[in-house]
Amino acid sequence: MKSFQTERWTVDNFEENLIKHPHVIQASLWIKQNEVVALPTETVYGLAGNAQSDQAIARIFEAKGRPSDNPLIVHISDRKQLEGLVSSIPENAEKLMNAFWPGPLTIVLPKGEDVSEKVTAGLSTVAVRMPDHPVALAVIEASGVPLAAPSANLSGKPSPTTANHVYEDLKGKIPGIVDGGSTGVGVESTVVECTDKKVTILRPGGVTFEDLEHVVGAGNVTIDPGIQNEKLAPRSPGMKYTHYAPDAPFVLVDGSPEFLQQLVDKEKAAGKKIGILTTDERVIFYQADCVIPAGRRKNPETVAQHLYEALRSFNEAGVDQIFGEVFPKTGVGVAIMNRLEKSAGGNIIKE
Ligand code: TXA
Ligand code: MG
Repeated sequence: MKSFQTERWTVDNFEENLIKHPHVIQASLWIKQNEVVALPTETVYGLAGNAQSDQAIARIFEAKGRPSDNPLIVHISDRKQLEGLVSSIPENAEKLMNAFWPGPLTIVLPKGEDVSEKVTAGLSTVAVRMPDHPVALAVIEASGVPLAAPSANLSGKPSPTTANHVYEDLKGKIPGIVDGGSTGVGVESTVVECTDKKVTILRPGGVTFEDLEHVVGAGNVTIDPGIQNEKLAPRSPGMKYTHYAPDAPFVLVDGSPEFLQQLVDKEKAAGKKIGILTTDERVIFYQADCVIPAGRRKNPETVAQHLYEALRSFNEAGVDQIFGEVFPKTGVGVAIMNRLEKSAGGNIIKE
């Protein structure tokens, strides 16, 4: 693999005329040479390369250590870029674009002629989104091509929500990281597939089931059963992989703080260093080596925002075992629980 002295290119998200910013130009120059750079989006940091270049796509898979049968999302800054990228747009997809773009919604559409097979992992469809982040939009525009961009983590690790997280994972493997500070949503985009009437959620994310129903009508949104049921193959290839896993074994606990603390005490007695993933409201109930509130239970958006950061900090603390609270599966809670269940490899203890 090619090695780089990974640079950090800081950009103020609120600056005017970002497309002319020297760090945005620098990132786009690397992209024009078919190399890949990390950049902030409103969800998580992405590892971006020219979606029309086989070399750039190969670099993305190589840097992340990503299985080649897992397709990438193509990011655009303007709907004109859909030409050649997709071959048709169902009516429902158009409605969703009007409602949620730019924003954390990825739409799977029939693939057009200008997309590399490597991007779609040989599928007849391509996943597209327009990110709601001024820096991401500026880099796409300055590069002049749609950008393929998976989350900028090593495959299997939690997605990066800061430039530091990207650096931890990809240092030496990429020329640079555009640093626009912490990302806002914190979990990845919602991935959907559309037919003329129905919308199927392939990966829950920043745009919720309720948000989608609001636009396409009650009863027209379903969740891919393959996400929840291990016996079925998920329709989105990426959903079958272990993901977001901290280094230590992680167990979810569906019960009271007292019950969770009892589990902790047993492990402590065996001499283990314990981490607890909790919320602001419950942090006072626990005693362990590393107690991390991700956000407020009352406001699950704050939990989504800090979830991956919290999972990563257990690695820094070097704990032997992690216990985590569960959340109601409504709103963004569906995405939070999907990620937590994956990090825990499906391990849940009920009271
Ligand atoms: O928020 C996000 O979506 C972030 C930022 C960087 O935009 N990107 C992201 O990409 O999460 P990645 O590669 O980590 O996840 C892409 C997901 C995978 O689960 C992949 O299998 C699915 O989208 N996907 C991509 N193309 C697909 C297709 N044609 N059909 C079904 N699923 C697809
Ligand atoms: Mg990812």
